[in-house]
Amino acid sequence: MPTASFSNIPAPSEYFRLMFVGDIVARPGRRVIADWLPKARHYYNPEVVIANGENAAGGFGLDVRTAEEIFRSSVDVITLGNHVWDRKEIFSLLEREKARLVRPANYPPDNPGTGMTIWTGHSGFRLGVMNLIGRVFIPGALDCPFLAADRLIEEHSPHYDALFVDMHAEATSEKKALAWHLAGRAAAVIGTHTHTQTADEVIIEGKTAYLSDVGMTGPHEGIIGFAQEEVVERFITGRNSRLEPAKGRTQINAVVVDICRESGEARGIYRINEVTK
Ligand SMILES: [Fe+2]
Ligand SMILES: [Fe+2]
Repeated sequence: MPTASFSNIPAPSEYFRLMFVGDIVARPGRRVIADWLPKARHYYNPEVVIANGENAAGGFGLDVRTAEEIFRSSVDVITLGNHVWDRKEIFSLLEREKARLVRPANYPPDNPGTGMTIWTGHSGFRLGVMNLIGRVFIPGALDCPFLAADRLIEEHSPHYDALFVDMHAEATSEKKALAWHLAGRAAAVIGTHTHTQTADEVIIEGKTAYLSDVGMTGPHEGIIGFAQEEVVERFITGRNSRLEPAKGRTQINAVVVDICRESGEARGIYRINEVTK
């Protein structure tokens, strides 16, 4: 279980520790998280675990069964992304699970669900969990994520002790720009969507933990989780053929952020990148 890079990390005391798991892809992702997370919770001791579930159901979207499976794996809050609308069931699920299931806040008004929730840990620490989606290289009539974040912070900041943001976006520049926009206002801005973990973790201005992309949890072989032959064929033929999850080994991509309980500022950020045998 322990990775070498984690052997020196002390258990949090004056820090509130969160863990964020990168996009859980299809059954291999759900299975590996069900096996790994209970042990990881014990070892890394996070007070809250957040996971991106936009690819949990067959690689595309989230449905009731896969959401329940992820919650049973001891994930506390699920975030989403551009695949949010892939499954019809998500409409009622988003309304029913507003306390622990968020979708990108900057979809236009009147969409179901919420882009922000406040999760209270066993210590009483209140973590705001916000989900945003970028507009660079992502289609759709999306509202501005920067202004959406401003509005949500204005409305909710009196009610939380620190803020976590899943910024689901393709462009590194847009993700980092959002992190700088929220520097000092968010404890963590972590990117998702590319399924490829970056190694650029930093604490901006000593306050806001940032990682351009946390990566993906699921099939390690293949191309961002999917069978390589099918993805290659898509590029060659130009046809949007069906994609299956890749076979073989699986990986866990996650990040741990330690937050000062007094100030709500980040004090540490650590990446997890494990590949199963
Ligand atoms: Fe994804
Ligand atoms: Fe995505």
